[in-house]
Amino acid sequence: MESKQLKAIQQSFAVPFEYPVIFSRDVLSSSNDLLVETISRLGEKRRHRVAVFIDAGVVKSHKDLPKKVEQYFKTHTKQLELTAAPRVIPGGEEIKGDGMLLLGVMNSLVSQRLSRHCIVLIIGGGAVLDAMGFAASLIHRGLRVIRMPTTALAQCDSGVGVKTSVNWEGKKNIAGTFAPPFAVINDFSLLDTLPDGEWGAGIAEAFKVAIIKDADFFNFLCDHAAQMKARDREVLEQMIIRCAELHLEHICTSGDPFEYGQARPLDFGHWAAHKLETMSNYRIGHGQAVAVGLALDSIYAARQKWISEAELKQILTGLRASGLTLWYSELDKTDKKGNPEILTGLEDFQEHLGGELCITFPQGIGRKMEVNEIDRAEVKKAIQRLKSET
Ligand SMILES: NC(=O)c1ccc[n+]([C@@H]2O[C@H](COP(=O)([O-])OP(=O)(O)OC[C@H]3O[C@@H](n4cnc5c(N)ncnc54)[C@H](O)[C@@H]3O)[C@@H](O)[C@H]2O)c1
Ligand SMILES: [Zn+2]
Repeated sequence: MESKQLKAIQQSFAVPFEYPVIFSRDVLSSSNDLLVETISRLGEKRRHRVAVFIDAGVVKSHKDLPKKVEQYFKTHTKQLELTAAPRVIPGGEEIKGDGMLLLGVMNSLVSQRLSRHCIVLIIGGGAVLDAMGFAASLIHRGLRVIRMPTTALAQCDSGVGVKTSVNWEGKKNIAGTFAPPFAVINDFSLLDTLPDGEWGAGIAEAFKVAIIKDADFFNFLCDHAAQMKARDREVLEQMIIRCAELHLEHICTSGDPFEYGQARPLDFGHWAAHKLETMSNYRIGHGQAVAVGLALDSIYAARQKWISEAELKQILTGLRASGLTLWYSELDKTDKKGNPEILTGLEDFQEHLGGELCITFPQGIGRKMEVNEIDRAEVKKAIQRLKSET
């Protein structure tokens, strides 16, 4: 065989990405200039056009939020223009799984006549940020997005990163884009109305990143587990800030912000979590499922001697003491051959990674390792142990 190349031109360029992740309170109060400063952070001397989308679940608990947004824009009318009344869209997985809803928000973006320099301000949980972020990344090949995450999980994890996604054909996050935001503003006061289970989700993601990246943070979480369970705001805010910091650090320093390689360290515990979510038809939320995934993969890691039995106990005790549930009946479901249904999550995960399986496990606390093979019989044993302990 002979290569018949006539000419090859090697193309290469790098595009820098930078965005601030800011923590504040009462961001939409007319006396707080943070939002208007963030929108105009590039020093462009013009009136900024902004389209606003708000999670219906947030509006349910903060009924005055759309009005507050309008008031904010009135106060800052010299610098800001609201392109339409804030649009309230369904929250949770509903927005990620309904194609008609997605087309609806894309139509709304188009009808608001936004250019690539306009801002889409998205206020909501991780699901709304994912779906709206996806829609905004497609219009004009990418509008400027400012995220205002309203759940603990979104403030410390999903809302600070570079990915958007929707679910399709029962497959979680099957369609999506890499679209770094223009800015992220975490408003702690929006968390006041967060349902209990949603706090747990943020705590689970904090344990995830601590176990594989930061032993000190892991110890902090274990030492403050009871306070986190009691929803001590100061501790939870410290948790959110450190967890977000670790995520951002990973995106910056891993050398693979857009996940071209196989390894997905931030997906520790997630192969089982994603499957559990879909098996339960999303009754079990993402973060709740992550807590189970972490427990399962930690037991697996202990069986392989990648972490010690003492470290495993610390992990399981820490997760439970902070109020996380580590067992759901879905884990008992088996296929015709008697194999746990959850195991098919490994195939889905492998497909998602592009063919080769690569799963992150802790190697001691605060360090990680990647493996390309999983012993299904060992996972079965890990499931049995998790069940026996709950
Ligand atoms: N893009 C990423 O990198 C990434 C990473 C991890 C997770 N995710 C995705 O994030 C989603 C989960 O996000 P989530 O955990 O933030 O939950 P969520 O967005 O599903 O929200 C959960 C519920 O809480 C409501 N809600 C949101 N904020 C509220 C508030 N302040 N007060 C009262 N109710 C509120 C929502 O309306 C919804 O009903 C999943 O779809 C997951 O796949 C994405
Ligand atoms: Zn997650």
